[in-house]
Amino acid sequence: MKFFVDTADVADIKDLAASGLLDGVTTNPSLIMKANRPMFDVIKEICALVPGPVSAETVSTDHKRMLEEGRKLAKLAKNVAVKVPLTPDGLKTCKVLRSEGIMVNVTLCFSAAQALLAAKADASFISPFVGRIDDNGHDGMMLIDEIMTIYRQYPHFKTEVLVASIRHTQHVVRAAKMGAHVATVPPNVLRGLFKHVLTDIGLKAFLDDWAKTGQSIL
Ligand code: E4P
Repeated sequence: MKFFVDTADVADIKDLAASGLLDGVTTNPSLIMKANRPMFDVIKEICALVPGPVSAETVSTDHKRMLEEGRKLAKLAKNVAVKVPLTPDGLKTCKVLRSEGIMVNVTLCFSAAQALLAAKADASFISPFVGRIDDNGHDGMMLIDEIMTIYRQYPHFKTEVLVASIRHTQHVVRAAKMGAHVATVPPNVLRGLFKHVLTDIGLKAFLDDWAKTGQSIL
């Protein structure tokens, strides 16, 4: 399973990239607003830090302008994945960008039917937003299960399921159990994956006992 980090904070990405566990990055207009920096600078810097796909989102809603934006974003670096919304114009744009060899991440997916359309439009990634579904009183992970089941019926579908809007570590674990290809994880949740209280307690006990032996390895 690939781990992407869901942020436009370059310092955070640099820190997480050093762990060797980062396979890509996703950004969106809200994350760019939060970073409070020019989008093109941010995307170029992230693309230089992480070799894997870096999602940069279009903001026009009509096909013609979305396509222009997508082509412009793709020129920023070889590893840009252009993000388009799951709308008729978005999928039309996806198809054209894919025919030009550009990676496309179709975002704002909330149903299995939408995910099916994205695969047919040859999306590189489909981003179902599990946390926002949970926020609205449903189980977002059920959608991942449904999409994985459908995609498995059609081995020629090359679209990867990128679980998005992740809120906690159990979203990541459940996504992995379902065989989802990618999880895009907020930095705090990614760091949270390392944590277990018994690891901390166990390490302390081992180190205390080791100190009592008076030995040293180095
Ligand atoms: C990622 O591609 C999405 O933009 C992101 O995961 C959305 O997450 P949110 O629902 O926490 O804003």
